Amino acid sequence: MKRKIFLFIIIIFVGIQFIPVQPNYSETFSKDDIIEATKAPADIAIMLKSSCYDCHSNNTKYPWYDKVAPISWWIASHINEAKEELNFSEWGTYSLKKKKHKLKEIVEETKEEEMPLRSYLWTHSDVKLSKKQINRLNTWINSIRE
Ligand code: HEC
Repeated sequence: MKRKIFLFIIIIFVGIQFIPVQPNYSETFSKDDIIEATKAPADIAIMLKSSCYDCHSNNTKYPWYDKVAPISWWIASHINEAKEELNFSEWGTYSLKKKKHKLKEIVEETKEEEMPLRSYLWTHSDVKLSKKQINRLNTWINSIRE
């Protein structure tokens, strides 16, 4: 009986790997990207790319385990939700009002250490923003607020 249950689980696990998940990947670096659109300095660009772009852009860097179902489904739902709220790759297409609102949200979310998502930091602890980085990011944000 135990063997049958084990076999059943293995079959399900292998089976779900064939359910396609659209990877979040774009060939081009859009001119609407916040880094391009705001001419962001290099240190800010690195910070955003390494700590935020996996979810809030059209390009995710996937470690191998993120490609394994059901983890891949969980990741995809986070990315969809995150991009709906804020997509740095499409920054240039946002209205002035939306930009202002999102910049305010970024300051709040990073100050409260809500972003990057805590569950993401379990496997990406190196991209947690330090107090110094948060200050730097928010000083830059204040400088681009029109
Ligand atoms: C692992 C994925 C992930 C990463 C990495 C991530 N976020 Fe998010 N972010 C989300 C999700 C999911 C939401 C929507 C749900 C929520 O608010 O918790 C969100 C929401 C937000 C919001 C709220 C937008 C609004 O209008 O309410 C802001 C601002 C934000 N993120 C900024 C950032 C910044 C800045 C970074 C990098 C320092 C970052 N996020 C990194 C997943 C992520």
